[in-house]
Amino acid sequence: MKAVIKGIGGYIPEYILTNQELSTMVDTTDEWIMTRIGVKERRILKEDGLGTSYMGTLAVENLLNKTGVSKDEIDMLICATVTPDMLFPATANIICDKVGIKNAWGYDINAGCSGFIFSLTTAASFIETGRAKKIILVTGERMSSITNYQDRTTCPLFGDGAVAMLIEATEDSSVGLMDEILHVDGVGRQYLFQKAGGSMYPPTEETIRNREHYIYQDGQVVFKYAVSRMADVSVEMMERHNLKASDIAYLIPHQANLRIIDATAKRMGLKKDKVLINIEKFGNTAGTSIPLVLWEFEKKFKKGDTLILSAFGAGFTWGALYYKWGYDPV
Ligand code: UT7
Repeated sequence: MKAVIKGIGGYIPEYILTNQELSTMVDTTDEWIMTRIGVKERRILKEDGLGTSYMGTLAVENLLNKTGVSKDEIDMLICATVTPDMLFPATANIICDKVGIKNAWGYDINAGCSGFIFSLTTAASFIETGRAKKIILVTGERMSSITNYQDRTTCPLFGDGAVAMLIEATEDSSVGLMDEILHVDGVGRQYLFQKAGGSMYPPTEETIRNREHYIYQDGQVVFKYAVSRMADVSVEMMERHNLKASDIAYLIPHQANLRIIDATAKRMGLKKDKVLINIEKFGNTAGTSIPLVLWEFEKKFKKGDTLILSAFGAGFTWGALYYKWGYDPV
């Protein structure tokens, strides 16, 4: 038995933060951001009092409408996020309550930008062992809530959005999640983190004054790790399954930086038309970036298409999934 994605719903906030507007906030240019990162604009959830659960709830409702599945059939909801509504309770619980899902249990997963590949593997384990029948996997980020709009080295990168997927079992062993290679390395915690607000540095006037509740990133170090780890693990997955470039329908990489994506595709021997990218429109939405690509390009995929999904993020966390798409365009 394999676990397979049966449908995708999504929600992106309406507000578009362009490079032009960013250049009025910090010393930057559209040219620098496009050349060094590849982002033109990103979506921002502007309204006060709304968090990740707001977008996640709309994504789940979109999913339920699209698939026709009843919320009463859902037995588990997992939410991958680094920007939960609150430190507790879990955003998964809040989404269940807002949607009216009554028969499920669930929790949040924090795996940085690898949130989707880690949580799809988790969901698949519950499905493959028969412990759950219908899981909703939500990835959602309000990255704008932890982005320092006075720091030009990080603020052009990030955007907001949410995606929900229905994960079920299939007896057809030729589709679904075929294999995963996943890693963590705590060395990364000194290069990419949100310092304050947790138990080690609870909020104080000083942490707020020092802007320690925002993302800190040593971009060059993270870049070097990301380029080598994402490419290594994607090539390892190809070798493990004797996959040639011609066997792969699409690489769907985490959308952090176009240069990291290009380097990964090059190591895999893939031409540009096999690499799905929407970083230009949405920026880096952390664990939501691969799902946003799947959501946007859903109609491109045919049953049996071989996909490699590959990510790198805070932790460090990284890995690659070998996934065979489960349905024809609807
Ligand atoms: O998703 C989780 C994982 N995260 C990532 O994978 C992100 C990895 N890192 C990166 O993508 C890149 O390191 C950045 C996009 C964050 C930065 O790009 P970079 O090519 O590594 O730039 P840099 O930090 O080496 O800076 C080059 C120059 C510096 O000026 P000097 O010292 O050469 O005069 C920076 O001050 O660019 C300057 N700079 C900017 N200039 C205009 C940095 N940010 C900006 C900016 N606009 N926004």
